[in-house]
Amino acid sequence: MASAPLVVGGGDDASNRFARGVAESLGVMYAEAQRRVFPDGESYLRLPEADYRGSSVVLVKTMAPPQDKSIFEILMAVDALLERGVERLILVSPYTAYARQDREFLPYEAVSVRALFRAISRAGVSRFYTIEIHKEDSLLHFEGGNAYSISPYSYMASRITLERPLVVLAPDLGAVRRAREFASAVGAEFDYLVKRRDRVTGDVTVEPKELNVKGKHVVIVDDIVSTGGTVARAASMLLRQGATVITVVAAHALLVEGASRKLKDAGVSRVYAANTLPNRDPSLVEMIDVSPLVAERVREALE
Ligand code: R5P
Repeated sequence: MASAPLVVGGGDDASNRFARGVAESLGVMYAEAQRRVFPDGESYLRLPEADYRGSSVVLVKTMAPPQDKSIFEILMAVDALLERGVERLILVSPYTAYARQDREFLPYEAVSVRALFRAISRAGVSRFYTIEIHKEDSLLHFEGGNAYSISPYSYMASRITLERPLVVLAPDLGAVRRAREFASAVGAEFDYLVKRRDRVTGDVTVEPKELNVKGKHVVIVDDIVSTGGTVARAASMLLRQGATVITVVAAHALLVEGASRKLKDAGVSRVYAANTLPNRDPSLVEMIDVSPLVAERVREALE
């Protein structure tokens, strides 16, 4: 008889917390991998002791910075689990790294997300779940076809109380679907900005636009807040046009290179992010636990 499914936390705090949430929602056993880093920087991983032969395992491991290390640790855990005889290996990576390089913007560039999905599907992962990948088409690179991105915005909307009158804003065209979903969940108006990036210099500009935000609370919705540049540019424009409060809702708060300071200086009062990554600044960011949302989808796969 096949053993009961087991959820395994990938060893770092953010992944372990998320894994516990998934296991609790599913009502299945939870165990953690042990993780250490050797003095030279290499990772060590040891699986929790269990009878893995013929079992279904849900491995939860996010691709938080340092991304390369997180990804290699995923490959180590997958290899160790398959070696122990796991029959069905489901990988939940709440944050998928390398997803923004999803095509050759300039000829001969490496398509990082393709390399990533080929590596994890060829390693033997049978199903993959993530929260809000940058572009859903990237999932097609996961061989076998069982890769899914779960949109968190409606779920997050049901867990946040926002001051009104309220306008929801997409800071670029890529965020329009995301902001629309959030606006419809909270029953608010919606608008968007157009952002352009020079592919060679990396310089970013936002097209000027008159927005109906005077005296209103504006919620900027995006998938990722990384350096904070996209949100900070939008926030400054909104404040100049009379917005009173600026809040951000994002699937992933990476917050690199002093992003937190940049956002605060630009007038952002709060960032709500799904708990896909460690919280880099609890004074600014409030994490919304989206593990139950993922558990719902994983449950279907285990049935
Ligand atoms: C870009 O297309 C993404 O959707 C985000 O807007 C972007 O990655 C955010 O990056 P940053 O915070 O560095 O501006």
